[in-house]
Amino acid sequence: MEQYIIKGGMPLAGEVNIAGAKNAALGILAASIMTDETVTIENLPDVSDINVFLQAIESIGAKVERIDRHTAKINASTVDQHEVEEGYMKKIRASYYMLGALLGKYKEAKVVLPGGCKIGARPIDQHLKGFRALGGDVKIEHGSVKVKAERLHSNDIYLDVVTVGATINIMLAAALADGKTTIENAAKEPHVVDVANFLNSMGANIKGAGTDLIRIKGVERLHGTTYSVIPDQIEAGTFMFASAVTKGDVIVKNVIPKHLESITAKLIEMGCEVEEFDDAVRVVSKDRLKKTNIKTLPYPGFPTDMQPQGVVALALAEGVSIVTESIFENRFKYVDELARMGSNIKVEGNTAIIEGVEKYMGASISAPDLRAGAALVIAGLAADGFTSIEDIHYIERGYEDLPEKLSSLGALIEKVSDEKEIQKFKLKVG
Ligand code: EPZ
Repeated sequence: MEQYIIKGGMPLAGEVNIAGAKNAALGILAASIMTDETVTIENLPDVSDINVFLQAIESIGAKVERIDRHTAKINASTVDQHEVEEGYMKKIRASYYMLGALLGKYKEAKVVLPGGCKIGARPIDQHLKGFRALGGDVKIEHGSVKVKAERLHSNDIYLDVVTVGATINIMLAAALADGKTTIENAAKEPHVVDVANFLNSMGANIKGAGTDLIRIKGVERLHGTTYSVIPDQIEAGTFMFASAVTKGDVIVKNVIPKHLESITAKLIEMGCEVEEFDDAVRVVSKDRLKKTNIKTLPYPGFPTDMQPQGVVALALAEGVSIVTESIFENRFKYVDELARMGSNIKVEGNTAIIEGVEKYMGASISAPDLRAGAALVIAGLAADGFTSIEDIHYIERGYEDLPEKLSSLGALIEKVSDEKEIQKFKLKVG
């Protein structure tokens, strides 16, 4: 079975380039089927969630051409199915974006209830409430969501919780609805803004993305465009924390520093130096990290997708830190794995009480989900001795070339597929 093998203890140093944002790209790929003209999307990350999504788009009849590793051309004029096959969609959470996109363009859609990382109940009631408000007839049948409408009309939609998925999904459908739709209490995440910018570049009329009130004036049709996806805020944050825990000096390049402010603020509280450039940040960590508290919140708060990386760092900090997870109720599962490496963390409900230890010890562990998996890699980089991480397919959903990028910063990490390769790695690194 494929796994990562790491020998910890090397301070990371150098420069790393951040890929395009997976969660923005998923919304953008869905939106790309809403025109019959050709759409070119640049800066797509080469990660498994994106590749599965591209296959899903192909499976409904669209033409997908991969120009190079990070660029795809999509032409959806040949779409002849408004139902996405179960095989693709169970694998990825963002399958639900095909509901909004197909409903907007074809006024009907059928998609299997979404899969994705098991980090909580993850209902989609707000998505469905939005579709109903726009005139969609929504039915759940045999594990699938079916939505149909004669015509989509506008409405004022108030979201009961701040949700990225529902905000994007409603934007997609409303972009081609009649009249002016508003979304109140909308999510403000950078990827919401990126999907809105992409739709606008196709001729949509969406204003206010990035605030909690989004106004969408439906248009008759959307046209082709060429668009470059924003950099991945979470991949960037992951490398920033990797620098912090390894006493590193890393320049994280191709980022939008504004999107990283909550992450930067926490690293500074923990005693790191963070220097901001136009499109890069440098994280220098010299001494033992200091305790702090973190509460995950919708943007511009500290992202839930950075919570495990935050905990991995604080578990090495001096003193007791408290981390509160306020977005997903089941996002501390990895703490058991971290305990095998010597951490001292007590989880009570949605709160982790963390007593910092001096060091992690290498161990054999497995990734319970995407972000926790990446956080465990960071723990391995800081640990004494060897750490092996199984179930890396979770990590590959959202991180492009993680071992290669870390190696280029001086980390001793390799993807291996059998015992022989593990032994070879151990001999090589000593
Ligand atoms: C997106 O998930 C991301 N996924 C997640 O990233 C991320 O953790 C999350 O946003 C929060 O930032 C994608 O973009 C594909 P939400 P999403 O709807 O859209 C509740 C990763 O690692 N809620 O913003 O599913 C929900 O239970 C992944 O890349 C409802 O109650 O998250 C949660 O408590 C993991 N009803 C909160 O809202 C709904 O209809 C926020 O969820 C929808 C959501």
